[in-house]
Amino acid sequence: MHIEGTVARRLDGTAVGEAIRASLRPRIEAFTAAAGRPPGLGIVLAGNDAGSEIYVRNKVKACHAIGIDVDLQRLPREASLGEVMAIVDRFNTSETYDGILVQSPLPAGMGRDAERQVFDAIDPAKDVDGFTPVNVGRLVQNRPALAPGTPSGVIALLDRAQIPIQGARAVVIGRSDIVGKPMAMLLLHRHATVTICHSRTADLPAVAATADILVAAIGRPGFVTREFVKPGATVIDIGATQVTDRDQIVSLFGADSPRLEVLARRGATQVGDVHPDVASVAGALTPSPGGVGPLTIAMLLSNTVRAAEMRRGA
Ligand code: GUN
Repeated sequence: MHIEGTVARRLDGTAVGEAIRASLRPRIEAFTAAAGRPPGLGIVLAGNDAGSEIYVRNKVKACHAIGIDVDLQRLPREASLGEVMAIVDRFNTSETYDGILVQSPLPAGMGRDAERQVFDAIDPAKDVDGFTPVNVGRLVQNRPALAPGTPSGVIALLDRAQIPIQGARAVVIGRSDIVGKPMAMLLLHRHATVTICHSRTADLPAVAATADILVAAIGRPGFVTREFVKPGATVIDIGATQVTDRDQIVSLFGADSPRLEVLARRGATQVGDVHPDVASVAGALTPSPGGVGPLTIAMLLSNTVRAAEMRRGA
């Protein structure tokens, strides 16, 4: 329970991510010794979305650091859907690439249906994002082989922080295929009572304020304010928008925030969906950056190792 005047407990994704990575190292060594090659991940990055550039850079770095081989295929913003499909085909039939990741979003010029077509084409056995229809179906039936990284990372974080899920009221704000919906399924399978909210939910703050576990996954910086949060609730911030507007940073974090220095140095700073004031109401809170992001990457590594092991029949 929250005591007035305290600050929410900080749920540190970096530390939990490190623990997950440590548990993967012996498996990667064993796989590499048995297969005569390391696990391999093929990545497609099309276009120059600011968030995607950072995610993919971090994913590649994390793979190299742990001994997973990466083939990063970059395409320009003007590339065709056919070019993406050709790379996916090559990764599907590759002996040495166990996992395939096509970074979302694809450039708008590829058409509205492009992402669906690409995810339909990925071999489910190599689908380390858990985005193919087969793996989505398996997730809904609670027999996942490869489940999406971000929501799986949230469950790992809640478990390590010993935050009870069973019987809790969980509210997920956001209904995307890659975060909101799988998050709701994973919470449901752990016996939470789950509500999914979205842009047309009536009286969103009041619904959110029923939550013991509130998950924000909408990509709107600082949208979730104090009125959305029941005192003492656990708040998980999946938002990770690259903000370039100095005024927006000042209005959210104040004129003496260290983030202004980050903005000046890098031209952008990552801001979550949860307003900084929520720290004085919530019982526990993930920071952004440093919360869910490192876990997404740890779960991607975990899924890549799992895919490699499954392909060898382990
Ligand atoms: N874009 C934002 N998050 C993700 C993710 O987890 N996987 C992929 N492929 N794209 C993303």
